[in-house]
Amino acid sequence: MRIAIIGAGPSGMAQLRAFESAAEQGREIPEIVCFEKQADWGGQWNYTWMTGLDEHGEPVHSSMYRNLWSNGPKEALEFADYSFDEHFGRPISSYPPRPALWDYISGRVERAGVRKHVRFSTVVRWVDFDEATQQFTLVSEDLESKKTSREVFDRVIVGSGHFSFPKMPSFEGLETFPGQVSHAHEFRGAENLRGKDVLVIGSSYSAEDIGSQAHKMGARSVTASYRTAPMGYDWPLGFEERPLVTKFDGSTAFFADGTEKEFDAVVLCTGYLHKYPFLPNELALDSPNNVYPEGLYKGVVWEQNPHLFYLGAQDQWFTFNMFDAQTWFVRDVILGDVVLPGVDARQSDIDAWLERFHAIGGAADEIRFQADYVRDLIEATDYPIFDLDEVVEIFLEWKHDKAEDIMGYRDRAYRSVMTGTIASTHHTKWVDELDDSLARYLAPLPPAGAASGSAAGSAAGATADAAGAPAL
Ligand SMILES: Cc1cc2nc3c(=O)[nH]c(=O)nc-3n(C[C@H](O)[C@H](O)[C@H](O)COP(=O)(O)OP(=O)(O)OC[C@H]3O[C@@H](n4cnc5c(N)ncnc54)[C@H](O)[C@@H]3O)c2cc1C
Ligand SMILES: NC(=O)c1ccc[n+]([C@@H]2O[C@H](COP(=O)([O-])OP(=O)(O)OC[C@H]3O[C@@H](n4cnc5c(N)ncnc54)[C@H](OP(=O)(O)O)[C@@H]3O)[C@@H](O)[C@H]2O)c1
Repeated sequence: MRIAIIGAGPSGMAQLRAFESAAEQGREIPEIVCFEKQADWGGQWNYTWMTGLDEHGEPVHSSMYRNLWSNGPKEALEFADYSFDEHFGRPISSYPPRPALWDYISGRVERAGVRKHVRFSTVVRWVDFDEATQQFTLVSEDLESKKTSREVFDRVIVGSGHFSFPKMPSFEGLETFPGQVSHAHEFRGAENLRGKDVLVIGSSYSAEDIGSQAHKMGARSVTASYRTAPMGYDWPLGFEERPLVTKFDGSTAFFADGTEKEFDAVVLCTGYLHKYPFLPNELALDSPNNVYPEGLYKGVVWEQNPHLFYLGAQDQWFTFNMFDAQTWFVRDVILGDVVLPGVDARQSDIDAWLERFHAIGGAADEIRFQADYVRDLIEATDYPIFDLDEVVEIFLEWKHDKAEDIMGYRDRAYRSVMTGTIASTHHTKWVDELDDSLARYLAPLPPAGAASGSAAGSAAGATADAAGAPAL
């Protein structure tokens, strides 16, 4: 049997690890080819300064930016088979910056020796299913050699992510705006927003964090414009929320509450499309960004064709350990350890979850829903079960911390449900930290003379309190 995995982001990497763990137990595993269009693995966590098209003329995948830190506590995403303690050899803080999380997810798969399965710089162009042979034909292109290949696979696992194709709404008069208009997908850092009046449109994580980055880097003002509901945090001075923009006239934006304001820059934080340009419509997931996209049995098996699987297609409270639960399940379906029920039974299972999904009454409910979903998958496999109720508590505490101090919640510490370790405190407060490098993060104290102290932090009289801080 030949298996294709599309994408070596955290989901695809977890799938490689899942098969390797079966091989370590003496199981025979199928031939695996993982196609990754970037030159390295890590998906969103593989940072690039590029925007738009890359060096091969391919759409840039990652939406991440300099100085992005985890937006949830690492204790909620920790692998059950590879702890942060094991990787770093000592406690680290609860909200690591991007390179530390990239290092963690890479460390696990490097150790498992699965790089050999990945064809880097190779983009999947098209996948077709042949009803007669019950096999897929996959067309890929090696972006270095420019060689096009056509190969046959028995199973295809889609792990190409769903935060790379920006949702681009239009607003009346936006074409007259003289400043920079961009989407969060192209945002790489807020340094150039210093002294500017910035408008972010949206009220989810990108709006929250890009607005916060702009504030941190010294924007004169930040205005977040919401469509459905405001984020409602206790924002610092100079950061406010207004209802949706109704139109632009030059640099002036007009809002639904009748107010208006002039801006220097607009960032559309309006989310992303589920888009799979390498799949025909009948195989392509089409869903809003939610925790239960329709058409997937157990959130991973394509209902119309159970030889096709999707990873990480849900909106994500749980991330890395949810991908593990999914990939262990997909592995066991492929190895025959989990026997798929018939179409009707699969549909009833989907319907039961959908009913619960439609009854979700708020964020806490949604977190519990996703915890139960993860539990459902783990219970069907040999992935080490962990205290999911405790992780729910961590998420609830995190939400509480954000409500209390939106600019300071990343300085707090949690206890690992995997090891019991209490996180250390980073040497520099988030609002003052301008350097997201791994070297600085892992330094016991900030290097003497190192750049830190944001415009926002300094303005508030805060300084990087290195002297008394515990290591990390
Ligand atoms: C701005 C941003 C910040 C985030 N911050 C956090 C955070 O703080 N904490 C957290 O837990 N999660 C965060 N996430 C969520 C993130 O989606 C997950 O952490 C994770 O990266 C999802 O993994 P994935 O493998 O499913 O998808 P991705 O990470 O998107 O990886 C998909 C991979 O598929 C490859 N690919 C795509 N198309 C093709 C093709 N045609 N051929 C070959 N390869 C292809 C891509 O190059 C990429 O390597 C963030 C997401 C975004 C966008
Ligand atoms: N680590 C970090 O700090 C960080 C930072 C950024 C992003 N992320 C991650 O990136 C992922 C994506 O987050 P996201 O915020 O980009 O997307 P998202 O969660 O899907 O939110 C999209 C937002 O856009 C709004 N929107 C959509 N269409 C609109 C329109 N036509 N007009 C006005 N508003 C519109 C939505 O408003 P409605 O509520 O009205 O639908 C919503 O607020 C998440 O997994 C998140 O965790 C993490």
